[in-house]
Amino acid sequence: MNPEAWELPASDPGWERMRDAGQLAGRPVVYLPAVDSTNTYALSPVLRGAAAGTLIVAETQTAGRGRLGRQWLSPPGCGLYLSLLLRPALSGEALPRVTLAAGVAVCLAVEQATGLQPKLKWPNDILLDGKKAGGILTETAGMAPGAAEPRPLVVVGIGVNVNTPAALFPGPLAAHATSLLAAAGRPFARSLILTALAAEVERAVAALEQGRWPEILRQWRARDGTRGRALSWVTPGRKTVRGESLGIDDQGLLHIRDAEGRIHAVLSGDLQLVSGGAHAHSRA
Ligand code: BTN
Repeated sequence: MNPEAWELPASDPGWERMRDAGQLAGRPVVYLPAVDSTNTYALSPVLRGAAAGTLIVAETQTAGRGRLGRQWLSPPGCGLYLSLLLRPALSGEALPRVTLAAGVAVCLAVEQATGLQPKLKWPNDILLDGKKAGGILTETAGMAPGAAEPRPLVVVGIGVNVNTPAALFPGPLAAHATSLLAAAGRPFARSLILTALAAEVERAVAALEQGRWPEILRQWRARDGTRGRALSWVTPGRKTVRGESLGIDDQGLLHIRDAEGRIHAVLSGDLQLVSGGAHAHSRA
């Protein structure tokens, strides 16, 4: 691809309409030219009382946050950096499922809007060509006993590298990060992906509310990009476990089989795909 094309922003009238009208397909939008983090903003008192379905969309983030305290690179105009406010009728134990449901939703939205076929890496990485093109950070508030709101506020923060030139990923990230532009060789209208994203996340969370978790599990497993592959897992206690991904169980936990045949259920921590592809024990 001609690198000069990267300089040209894709024409996206839908983005300008969303920005100027403060709404997208009937959803209220808070558009911010720049913010520290859309999740931080969504959880701040400024948005107390905002309607479920409100989208916080930023052109750039100065302190975009990822899992495990990582930074989320948010160059202006290139990507989608958004938080969707929800108040789902879900128990506290069911809330971790929102992240997996949102992962499925992001894949479906990217499939619909671009024709690309992203995969998932537990719990929340959106992969293209084995590299990370997006991620999800779900945060909650208002869950304290006696909280004023009857339902917790759930903020689904989504970052997607849409038109981010590969050259913008700094050294250590370059080997692991990609964008829709880099994967497809052409830019995409962010507004189309955003519209599909909001609808699909709401649909997936509604499925959870209606007890259709098995359907979300099926959709997640159909897009599992690491099953049968070698993974390295750094546990929250800083121990490294290497083994084969066995996929997710019915609770949504990832299982890894190590070289001694022990099965580990992954609740949290950092996971990396080990290059070289399939694990020695994997079956087709
Ligand atoms: C991850 O993969 O670790 C999660 C990344 C989530 C990034 C998004 S960008 C919009 C929202 N605001 C943030 O600060 N983080 C999320």
